[in-house]
Amino acid sequence: MKHNIIITGGAGFIGSHVVRLFVNKYPDYHIINVDKLTYAGNLANLTDIENKPNYTFVKADICDLDKMLGLMKEYNVDGIIHLAAESHVDRSIKDPFTFAKTNVMGTLALLQAAKIYWESLPEKYEGKRFYHISTDEVYGALELTDPEGIESPFTTTASSSEHHYAYGKEFFLETTKYDPHSPYSASKAASDHFVRSYHDTYGMPTIVTNCSNNYGPYQFPEKLIPLFINNIRHRKPLPVYGKGENVRDWLYVVDHARAIDTIFHEGKIAETYNIGGFNEWKNIDIIKVIIKTVDRLLGNPEGYSDELITYVTDRAGHDLRYAIDSRKLQAELGWEPSLQFEEGIEKTVRWYLDNQEWMDTITSGEYEKYYESMYKDR
Ligand code: NAD
Ligand code: TYD
Repeated sequence: MKHNIIITGGAGFIGSHVVRLFVNKYPDYHIINVDKLTYAGNLANLTDIENKPNYTFVKADICDLDKMLGLMKEYNVDGIIHLAAESHVDRSIKDPFTFAKTNVMGTLALLQAAKIYWESLPEKYEGKRFYHISTDEVYGALELTDPEGIESPFTTTASSSEHHYAYGKEFFLETTKYDPHSPYSASKAASDHFVRSYHDTYGMPTIVTNCSNNYGPYQFPEKLIPLFINNIRHRKPLPVYGKGENVRDWLYVVDHARAIDTIFHEGKIAETYNIGGFNEWKNIDIIKVIIKTVDRLLGNPEGYSDELITYVTDRAGHDLRYAIDSRKLQAELGWEPSLQFEEGIEKTVRWYLDNQEWMDTITSGEYEKYYESMYKDR
């Protein structure tokens, strides 16, 4: 079956990988990338596919209901994969209102536009799909205990002998109660509730997925991994929040995009799926892996950049541990990660070192000015 799909936030980190995968894998589909190009949106993430005949870029704000409705009508849209969001916890602490506006009101505008459009068609919601991308952060924080955990079902988890993939007994399940702590996770939680309410109230065919921390190419260098790779290259301090004891569960971004592809096509309507690779790391341990990898690839002696580690004041409300149980997705839809962590981190560090121009353009702020002059709001 042919689809016309709006992917929101397709110029961002994860969205660009999802757009690339869909445009290349499904030449019969029309992929419409709707992105406002905020500081985090960058069309340089998509130069390899920008001229493909099945791809259209539209600069627009998801908060603009009329514009969203117009696009859905214009392109006869039957699928929406919604990734556009404000995504950085530290920014949400400084400016929660922008998060409420984009993540909550923007999602609501998109839902309402889809409702108006799809209900106006003779077949209504048949064959339609509104797929909302969310985060594990909505579930709150888990305890940190001795490494134990459940058996990972995947052959592709972290392989290093000293590393344990789990730092506690509890994991987030699809049934775990929401308990968000940051303005970012609160806004994502609110948007998830709105999406589910459109299924329960109006019968819209919705799906929600909650994924763990992603890493890989094209991530904006305010997030831990690209920020630290870039700082090591420039011999700048590496600001470790608190004691570096917080645990995050890391998944290679292409594996998230593969999961989104599987769930968009085979996921059950009104279901929630957790996405994660059973790959927990304490921040300080992952930072040491990054330092070691960057130093090796730059030809520095081992331990050369350890001195850059700088412990700083902790993030306010810093969640201690996130850990996703993604066995439902594996059992029901057969997805599993394609990469071991060591392979993924090596690829990631190499990509940032090989693409210094991409990084330098962003850190100089040049690309924002460039795209502002190229694209006018529709
Ligand atoms: P990102 O910040 O890299 O990209 C967000 C994109 O959304 C940008 O291209 C930006 O221009 C666009 N955008 C922002 N506001 C918009 C608006 N009002 N209208 C249209 N476009 C707008 O984010 P990301 O890390 O790629 O995350 C994408 C989605 O995945 C988010 O919904 C996030 O909550 C979720 N998520 C992220 C992670 C992660 O580790 N990064 C993990 C789980 C879930
Ligand atoms: P981040 O990449 O911002 O993702 P999230 O907050 O969504 O998990 O941060 C990952 C972890 O790294 C988190 O525990 C906060 C920590 N961190 C630092 O210690 N220093 C930094 O400069 C940043 C950006 C993050």
